Amino acid sequence: MLILGIETSCDDTSVCLLNEKKEVLAEISFSQEFLLKKWGGIVPEIAARNHLEKLVPLLEEVFLKANKSPSNLDLIGVTTHPGLLGPLLTGLNAAKTLSLLYKIPLVPVNHIYAHLEAIHLVEDVSYPYLGLVVSGGHSIFFKVKSAVDFEVLGGTKDDAAGEAFDKAAKILGLGYPGGKIIDDLAKKGNPTRFEFPIGLRTSGDCNLSFSGVKTAIRTFVSKNPSLDDSILADVCASYQHAIVSALELKCSFANSENLPIVIGGGVACNSYLRSRFLKKFPKVHFVPPKYCTDNGTMIANYALLAKEQAIPFPDCLKIDSKGSIFSKGDRT
Ligand code: KG4
Ligand code: ZN
Repeated sequence: MLILGIETSCDDTSVCLLNEKKEVLAEISFSQEFLLKKWGGIVPEIAARNHLEKLVPLLEEVFLKANKSPSNLDLIGVTTHPGLLGPLLTGLNAAKTLSLLYKIPLVPVNHIYAHLEAIHLVEDVSYPYLGLVVSGGHSIFFKVKSAVDFEVLGGTKDDAAGEAFDKAAKILGLGYPGGKIIDDLAKKGNPTRFEFPIGLRTSGDCNLSFSGVKTAIRTFVSKNPSLDDSILADVCASYQHAIVSALELKCSFANSENLPIVIGGGVACNSYLRSRFLKKFPKVHFVPPKYCTDNGTMIANYALLAKEQAIPFPDCLKIDSKGSIFSKGDRT
């Protein structure tokens, strides 16, 4: 069985060919990071135009690399939501064209579900599990009862954790995207030298807020415009400490049932988050870093799960009625 996964929801164009044993025959990705550096964040119109330019060459390359052709396909998965409209439409149009031309079933994939279910590429975590998606656009806790039954337990009321990393890096003049840069600098810093606020610390639930910590770093930099390297490392470590402490605190609230925990999304690459969660939660499973940031493999994997579990395809399009908790923060 040959499955094609297409991901274009944000600033990564990524395509993958997967087989039924979940072996990656080829994955090719193009990250717009260096193009978007200039803007310090994502500009939806520019992102969409880049997907349009890159997608067909990447598709040609992925088939060539795997020594396959579109006529060999059995299934196509494509991210349909959530994401930026222009970028999503680019991927969807390509997927629909291939599906119609070669008469291949098409699975519309929820990007957030795919982030968490990517754990099944490498580990057999049983349902139900507590899922935490932490990325540039989302920070949400789910009780995951099956590949399509995701109950929202709580999440950010404003910005996502990745957005808080990216904005801090922009304010500190460190570049884009900020998560990896701050993670690296923080390794040499003292996480308790400066106190940055933990949003909704006393709310007694598993909701999150990262707008306060963003404001705090802006205020800090306006009061301390020139930071030498050792102070900068301490600022990054302390800022990262506040974000990770919030996630750890709220994860305890979310996991009242003591379920296995699965963490995915770009911020799940964070080394400090990984070490803190491993110490605190014995049953934590991390999606491997290469499948944490946006990738076509997690989309192909989700399409395969949908097929194996005979999920009626329209159900994959269902968005939780509490969708309002999805992050509202702007990303530029
Ligand atoms: O999942 P992803 O690729 O895209 C979205 O769906 O948003 O996540 C991208 C986010 C960015 O905000 C980036 O700064 C963050 O993941 N990120 C990290 C790290 N690597 C990527 N954040 C913290 N530490 C990292 N090592
Ligand atoms: Zn993502």
